[in-house]
Amino acid sequence: MRIGVIGTGQFAGSLVGLWKLHPDVTRITVTDLVAERAAEHLQRYGLDAVHDSAEELLASDCDAVVVMTQRWTHGELVLRALEAGKHVYSAVPMSISADEIEAIIAMVDRTGLVYMMGETSYYNPAVVYARDSIAAGDFGRVFYSEGDYVHDMDNGFYAAYQFSGGADWKATASYPPMLYPTHAVGGVLGALPTYATSVSCIGVVDDRGDGVFDRAVSMFDNDFSNMSAHFKLADGGVMRTNEFRRVGHPVGVHESRFRFYGTDAVMEQSSTGATLSDREGIRDISELFYTSHAEADGSAPQLTGIDPALVHSFSSGSAKVHDRSRLPEQYEGAPNGHEGAHHFLADDFVRAVTRRTQPPINAWVAARFTLPGIIAQASALSDGERLPIPDFGDGPTVDLAAFR
Ligand SMILES: NC(=O)c1ccc[n+]([C@@H]2O[C@H](COP(=O)([O-])OP(=O)(O)OC[C@H]3O[C@@H](n4cnc5c(N)ncnc54)[C@H](O)[C@@H]3O)[C@@H](O)[C@H]2O)c1
Repeated sequence: MRIGVIGTGQFAGSLVGLWKLHPDVTRITVTDLVAERAAEHLQRYGLDAVHDSAEELLASDCDAVVVMTQRWTHGELVLRALEAGKHVYSAVPMSISADEIEAIIAMVDRTGLVYMMGETSYYNPAVVYARDSIAAGDFGRVFYSEGDYVHDMDNGFYAAYQFSGGADWKATASYPPMLYPTHAVGGVLGALPTYATSVSCIGVVDDRGDGVFDRAVSMFDNDFSNMSAHFKLADGGVMRTNEFRRVGHPVGVHESRFRFYGTDAVMEQSSTGATLSDREGIRDISELFYTSHAEADGSAPQLTGIDPALVHSFSSGSAKVHDRSRLPEQYEGAPNGHEGAHHFLADDFVRAVTRRTQPPINAWVAARFTLPGIIAQASALSDGERLPIPDFGDGPTVDLAAFR
């Protein structure tokens, strides 16, 4: 397959490098509004060509388009790519508008094109473990779950938004936390086969006073930096997610973490590990989720008295719960990321396109990972009013065996 990538900023390279290694990818072209960034990617990853614009890339004969632009821009570009007859891989979130999500689903349904959202939490080791255990019935009925995405602004986000937003970076750095809900929601619903039906959310108004999260400056009119949402699920259960951007927590230590409470067993993950408990006792299962630590790429945070094996997010390895047997041999030893997720996401998209099947995180699943946050944001703006969450159904049955 031939891939065209729109947006070659800070994150695109981690997946582009993997598609370059994939035996079923024959060509990769790129474009960026900042031409030097596309040229730099061409050089660094040995790609095939640079396009002058997204229009030119969409008019080319690529089979699939990868959207790696800023988080509030995906919906419109995805719709244009689908209209051009291309399969699509989109960075998270799917969109920040319920109307665009509905339009993407309608277009994928009508055309049969592949749509995939690259939610890393779906392959987070704790989520892989919980998905398998819950499906096997080991937890009994899971009636309550929690997902957190804990990423402090002072841990890299100021520099990232300055790179991304240029002179007006403060206007974009105020991006509402609940419009980036998928690392928390996607981890819970990536393990639990249900979806959210209503939400009540509370936003914490920022008080740093540095012009970020200031409604007068924010292009999103947003002053919430931390948010907590309480969802009702279609199976009668409860999900709570947290999106924290002002929080005293180091980078790289389980920024996404999950807890599942079942009638027969409970899994609780924290910054430093995880336990599995039942009526007989409690077991430390942290080592199942270890991946090789951040020192591998020089981004290890300062940790005192903590086993460096606990540092995960930028790891180059996989965890014990990851079954790598389906991955191309070219991925052995290749750079990885987000606790071992990148290899699986890159391969999922190639498998979906080459086998003409919808991937695990298809448009319908992506909507269930994304829309709850959009409605949670609306709830927070109404002081926590409980609001219904639209749902677009299960979508086509995914042959999960094709992704094992
Ligand atoms: N864990 C994860 O899943 C994860 C981690 C990091 C980033 N992301 C997502 O990846 C996306 C990219 O993040 P990033 O940090 O690389 O952002 P970035 O701002 O560094 O890069 C985006 C690039 O897209 C370019 N761009 C924007 N609109 C364009 C257009 N119309 N045509 C061509 N180029 C265009 C910009 O010039 C910029 O270089 C974001 O949506 C982010 O949310 C996901």
